[in-house]
Amino acid sequence: NMKVILDVDTGVDDALGILLAIRSGEMDILGITTVNGNVSLEQATVNTCKILQLAGGEHIPVVKGADRPILRNTHFEHRVHGKDGLGGALKDMPVHKQAEDEHAVDFIIEQVRRYPGEVTLVMTAPLTNLALAVMKYPELVRQVKEVVVMGGVVQGFGNVTPTAEYNMYVDPEAAKLVFKAGFSSLTLVGLDVTRKALLTEEHIASLGDSPLARYVRESTADYMQRYYERNGVWACALHDPLAVGVVLNRELVTVKSYYVDVETRSELCDGQTVCDFQNRLSQEANVHVCLDVAADAFLRLFIRVLRR
Ligand code: BDR
Ligand code: CA
Repeated sequence: NMKVILDVDTGVDDALGILLAIRSGEMDILGITTVNGNVSLEQATVNTCKILQLAGGEHIPVVKGADRPILRNTHFEHRVHGKDGLGGALKDMPVHKQAEDEHAVDFIIEQVRRYPGEVTLVMTAPLTNLALAVMKYPELVRQVKEVVVMGGVVQGFGNVTPTAEYNMYVDPEAAKLVFKAGFSSLTLVGLDVTRKALLTEEHIASLGDSPLARYVRESTADYMQRYYERNGVWACALHDPLAVGVVLNRELVTVKSYYVDVETRSELCDGQTVCDFQNRLSQEANVHVCLDVAADAFLRLFIRVLRR
């Protein structure tokens, strides 16, 4: 099995990504690191613990990381993910699983050093933890197998501002640092493709009636409502699960390599991912950019795994 670390700010879709990773049975999840993002660091950590309890993943270490972006203020998304981040689901679940007594930045460094060339980092949150890890231990970039990031958008519009996707917007300095760090393989799973990975009510119905299926239905209800208000369709985008899906099966996406940078000094465009399609800046490509996705195949994989 491949060795992975998931880095999350557990909101609704992060949770579904965690479930996909655990239930796939194809990942050796070394740990799940949490970070400030959709909700506070504390809430993201509690939510992650609850999801592990739900999915029988209690043996997986949960490790707390940064409680704020490197330079900026926090920017929670309660409107999308609900007050507690799981859309009201698992509200009353008692939490007995606890986070490790270590910082996520040290955990990431330690695991990558322990398994050089073997660890895949799946980042579905603002990139604060990884940026801090690179600063603390620069050799990390050569020892990581690959990095897969849910974030950004290269051809469409943003989901926080007109130009910025949420994970980039919250900590653009961290994202810039990660993009420029020199990882040998960094894949960007942006809104260009995640917006096509739509979970519908029919999909949810096809999950049956297990506790997991009930959880998926409950946690996505408001999330779908939000999506409906904006797009007129009852569905929701599986942003973070698609990043996990790409790690499970690369063939799900069409990828091309480009030079990508993140805007950090603009009044209107902070957090925008700028992709140099025509190589006008004469820079070497640093990012494998996902341009298209076999959405049906991904949804089939997602449903098949969660039905198990
Ligand atoms: C990303 O932002 C968060 O709200 C989601 O969890 C996902 O990681 C989508 O833009
Ligand atoms: Ca997320």
